[in-house]
Amino acid sequence: MGKRKNKKPIEKLLIAIESPRSPISEQYRTLRTNIQYASVDKELKTIMITSPNPGEGKSTTIANLAIVFAQQGKKVLLVDTDLRKPTIHYTFHMHNTVGLTNVLMKQSILGEAIQQTPVTDLYILTCGTIPPYPAELLGSTMMTELIERLKVDFDIVLFDTPPLLAVTDAQILANKCDAAILVVKSGSTEREGAIRARDILANSSCRLLGTVLNNKKMKDSQYQTTYYYGQT
Ligand SMILES: Nc1ncnc2c1ncn2[C@@H]1O[C@H](COP(=O)(O)OP(=O)(O)O)[C@@H](O)[C@H]1O
Ligand SMILES: [Mg+2]
Repeated sequence: MGKRKNKKPIEKLLIAIESPRSPISEQYRTLRTNIQYASVDKELKTIMITSPNPGEGKSTTIANLAIVFAQQGKKVLLVDTDLRKPTIHYTFHMHNTVGLTNVLMKQSILGEAIQQTPVTDLYILTCGTIPPYPAELLGSTMMTELIERLKVDFDIVLFDTPPLLAVTDAQILANKCDAAILVVKSGSTEREGAIRARDILANSSCRLLGTVLNNKKMKDSQYQTTYYYGQT
């Protein structure tokens, strides 16, 4: 595990902690509210985030969303299911000596692998050792059983994933989660890619909750805002 020098404190990386009153944090709370509205008829406990391509803001969005759920007093688990390019442990300055893959391969038990964060009620399951065949691991019966167990232990379980159009991992997970959120990046994600990603999610067994438009330019802010659109 590589250590990053001069690392920023986590609140600098996570606007929902650093500036909870900012309009951008408010957007994450709006996203939370919309998910809660969508949960009225059928409880949505396992929610994944994905996007067509790399670098569109999946990990940033899900990390901030996890924080605003925890700030509301929900017991939240954020799982790094991007087994190709995991980043959650860097963002929260957690170790990644054991994580999801080690639990799935029975090298570790869940209680050892789940880490508490400085945010009350927010827990993290990092990726663990990067496996040779991520898709097989995510598609395994062990993974299905693990998700069922996590649903009992937590109020809400959020999953970060790799890009939908690059590898099958996110599609596999979409068939194991209750709901999915699609992120597209303003001025970058191509329309065709966004439509293909939407169609893949629409054809899976989870419910596509909506789309987040990320990186919309805002005046006087380094952090770009995020807008949520309901059903796509
Ligand atoms: N709304 C935003 N405002 C500013 N920077 C952002 C925003 N969303 C993402 N970023 C930055 O863009 C980069 C890619 O975001 P990330 O969430 O890691 O994307 P992904 O997980 O889809 O690959 C990161 O450096 C992140 O800090
Ligand atoms: Mg990511």
